[in-house]
Amino acid sequence: MSFPADFLWGAATSSYQIEGAALEDGRGECIWTRFSHTEGNVKHGHTGDVACDHYHRYAEDVALMQALGLRAYRFSIAWSRLLPQGTGAINQAGVDFYNRLIDKLLEANITPFVTLYHWDLPQALQDRGGWTSAEMPEWFAAYAALAAERYGDRVKHWITLNEPWCIAFLGHHLGIHAPGIRDERAAFCAAHHTHLAHGRAVQVLRERLPNAQVGITLNLAPIQPASDDPRDQEAARGFDGVQNRWFLDPIFKGMYPPDIAAYLTARGALDGLDLESVRLAAQPLDFLGVNYYTRILIRHAPNSPQGYEIYLPPDAPVTDMNWEIYPQGLRDLLLRVHREYAPPGIYITENGAAFPEPERVEGDLLEDSARVAYLEQHFKAAAEAIAHGVPLKGYFVWSLLDNFEWAEGYTKRFGIVHVDFATQKRTLKRSALYLKQVIQCGALS
Ligand code: FCB
Repeated sequence: MSFPADFLWGAATSSYQIEGAALEDGRGECIWTRFSHTEGNVKHGHTGDVACDHYHRYAEDVALMQALGLRAYRFSIAWSRLLPQGTGAINQAGVDFYNRLIDKLLEANITPFVTLYHWDLPQALQDRGGWTSAEMPEWFAAYAALAAERYGDRVKHWITLNEPWCIAFLGHHLGIHAPGIRDERAAFCAAHHTHLAHGRAVQVLRERLPNAQVGITLNLAPIQPASDDPRDQEAARGFDGVQNRWFLDPIFKGMYPPDIAAYLTARGALDGLDLESVRLAAQPLDFLGVNYYTRILIRHAPNSPQGYEIYLPPDAPVTDMNWEIYPQGLRDLLLRVHREYAPPGIYITENGAAFPEPERVEGDLLEDSARVAYLEQHFKAAAEAIAHGVPLKGYFVWSLLDNFEWAEGYTKRFGIVHVDFATQKRTLKRSALYLKQVIQCGALS
């Protein structure tokens, strides 16, 4: 099974999860700093204050990427490094950090893929309403314009937002991510503003960088009924409507899915939103970024408040996140997105797995056979999708480094490179060498 010669193999990270230096060199506070410093939000009270100390060790980390033969690297910019208050005054030291990183990547022949927003909103903007504020699209557009102006001479691939579903629902409905709000209406309001912000950012990037490749990254999952009971099927269709279509339809069709919009309108969840304005989200894109981790099985559950529940078969193989390992779901998902939405290009912008691993490593290689098997199966599923005509152009493994896994703190290790958080020592895992070999051969053996 082989991949196209120009297939962009890489790894992904995000600013708050690896950089550390949370308040250094003029960086403004972000919502994850505030959230993780508030008791009870993150396991063991972990924070991203130091994380992988990538802010100081970026050169070593780029050298590692080069040694692994990575062709591309997806990282995010911390908005509050550039604009400590979210708008207004520019922090040159923050701008310069990404200049150094981008230059190092280019020297190493690694294509930078920049995500403008991977969840670390400037706290100053949260104080003004954050994603529930109608001003967000313009705040984001101004930030996107600044990033384009400072980095657009060298960065050709831009991702506006990472996983707007998580921004909206983990952050504003379930409250398990920053800013920790628990309010369904706030969540749909935030989701609406992610759409408008994305649309405005694409416009701004296009104006300033006519040759750039622009996309967005969504966390998509195949949603399947747990049985062929029609009630399970209906519940699964509803769940898919919020998880997948609430984001895909505005971006590719300029409208919300009518069945879900009708249901939500009836329960008042969309009060105050001008649903028609979502057409702004449908800007022409060069690619869709897909983050895939698992499928979700749904069954109806009349006694639960939502009327359904997520079902995990008792014998399902799972990762340390308790997410089912289901590689076929990646192929199915890519085929569906291609068939129903036909983006001109697709990148897998995240795929990978956490497994229990030691905090400290003896020797210079960590054997992580479960992750190697996970990656191999998912690479195969991607190759099958390509064989079926999906315009898949690249694949970013999540993640380059073990890092701060949000509400799970440092307890979940996703890296293909192990990080000892006490010493910051990086140790390769077998999966890193496996990825290197796949990149070198351009094929799966
Ligand atoms: C995704 C996030 C990423 C990482 C992985 C495990 O939802 O985009 O930052 O936490 O999950």
